[in-house]
Amino acid sequence: MKDYYSDLERRRKAAQLSGGQSRIDRQHDQGKLTARERITVLLDEESFTELGQLVRHHSTDFGLADRHPYGDGVVTGYGTIHGRLVYVYSQDFTVFGGSLGRAHASKIVQVQDLALNNGAPIIGLSDSGGARIQEGVVSLGGYADIFLRNTLTSGVVPQISAIMGPCAGGAVYSPAITDLVFMVQGTSYMFVTGPDVVHSVTQEEVTSETLGGATTHAERSGVAHAVYPNDVACLEAIRTVLTYLPQNCEDQPVMHHRNHTTAENQSNLDSIVPEDPNKSYDMQRVIDVLVDNGSFFSIHDGFARNLICGFAKMGGYSIGIVANQPAHLAGVLDIDASVKGARFVRFCDAFNIPLITLEDVPGFLPGKDQEWRGIIRHGAKLLYAYCEATVPKLTVITRKAYGGAYDVMSSKHIRGDLNYAWPNAEIAVMGAKGAVRILHRNELKNTTYPESLENKFTDQYKERFSNPYIAAEYGYVDDVIFPHETRERLINGLEMLRNKVVTNPRKKHGNLPL
Ligand code: HXC
Repeated sequence: MKDYYSDLERRRKAAQLSGGQSRIDRQHDQGKLTARERITVLLDEESFTELGQLVRHHSTDFGLADRHPYGDGVVTGYGTIHGRLVYVYSQDFTVFGGSLGRAHASKIVQVQDLALNNGAPIIGLSDSGGARIQEGVVSLGGYADIFLRNTLTSGVVPQISAIMGPCAGGAVYSPAITDLVFMVQGTSYMFVTGPDVVHSVTQEEVTSETLGGATTHAERSGVAHAVYPNDVACLEAIRTVLTYLPQNCEDQPVMHHRNHTTAENQSNLDSIVPEDPNKSYDMQRVIDVLVDNGSFFSIHDGFARNLICGFAKMGGYSIGIVANQPAHLAGVLDIDASVKGARFVRFCDAFNIPLITLEDVPGFLPGKDQEWRGIIRHGAKLLYAYCEATVPKLTVITRKAYGGAYDVMSSKHIRGDLNYAWPNAEIAVMGAKGAVRILHRNELKNTTYPESLENKFTDQYKERFSNPYIAAEYGYVDDVIFPHETRERLINGLEMLRNKVVTNPRKKHGNLPL
């Protein structure tokens, strides 16, 4: 027996050492954790069970025939986060640069199938040079196997990706299909092809950081939903974000029974919105006062900052917040904001997370640039997402709700459940100044005192059209409320709507305007 046991021990030790000490040292020197260290930080203590530790590739191709490391460059298995089951795979850059061959792909596919069949989230920690060059088409096939499962799993269990090293080719398309993509500043990159290929095809000189670093994807492309300064912070963020999510689409998010206090007195909300409708204010402050103390988890913080999206707790309920940000581009809806909002709304809807919409929006951004790039097509995504969503939908109009944006931002007409407006709300086809200049063009042209006449017409417009009471009379808002009443109304509404069931017409799938 002794020999059998020592043989197993030897193999296990070899598996732990993966690509060898010098490559592990290189990983550490770059400020990165190893694949196994990452899993230790991610999961509850001693909860990890590894699968396929002794898997090896069987390729006889150049560069592989004499190296058969255990695990084949990926550590896979399952464990718990805050006591709840999750599946995980963590690519090991010390083995062939974390590149994906047949055996490596099969290990990932195994945990994907387990996650889908057992209804628990799957987390992928990516650190990979993409398709393993020596395994050719077999590695391409391995990626396709993974993409298929990413797609079939979408909307069934949460899929979270952390990009923790240079990721190229197939290594970026799998995360792109998943629900959330987190990156690490300075050590992670995502690109279809790296700077060398870019140079040879286009003669363009570009660094990895500029081409596909964390800032690029968090602020320009929108590929990354959040960025963290190092591996540990990124892994801790995954632990945190899971506290807002259910295990799968049939499950409800966990109700938190503690920490229902708020950061500030609710009466502070009464003075946040300036009297002058052209002055901005910070919607983030409104959110921070409304939600359970410090519970806001921002998604796409640096991208399309005119729309805030994020998870929070309110009275212990998990919620998704979508809020126009008047402090950035006056909170206008442009292409990026529409796409950002649409994806977030669909994510919340897929996983039974009620939506709270805080609305202060002057409309869609006009102009040639936006029209040519398809604001109609992209704006329609947000509209479609809100229309389609069947989770509880609660809306508060804090100031402007103009034009098409009034309809889009979870209005009553597209199945908003509870819609409130603050007393200063302006709900109308457009702002007072623009409307007066169209309706009274001739009178204003022919007067010697255009300013005072314009002021008079503006007051009339506000009285007749642009206030919350007209909408309240039609039942398009359920009530006009004081700002300090908002939190209580929303929590009360979440409680009332907790058993909501609404279904969409039977279909194969809708045709979301992509
Ligand atoms: C096999 C690879 C590899 C790959 C890296 N390695 N990428 N082995 N296949 N794709 C190996 C290296 O040979 C090296 O082995 C080790 O990993 C570390 O690589 P380095 O280059 O030394 O590391 P670094 O300088 O940090 O650069 C990392 C890198 C670079 C940026 C990822 O290696 C790189 O550009 N690799 C190729 C990326 C790529 O084009 N992949 C194919 C994408 S196409 P040793 O033995 O020295 O440790 C694709 C198709 C799928 O994925 C598309 C589906 C849609």
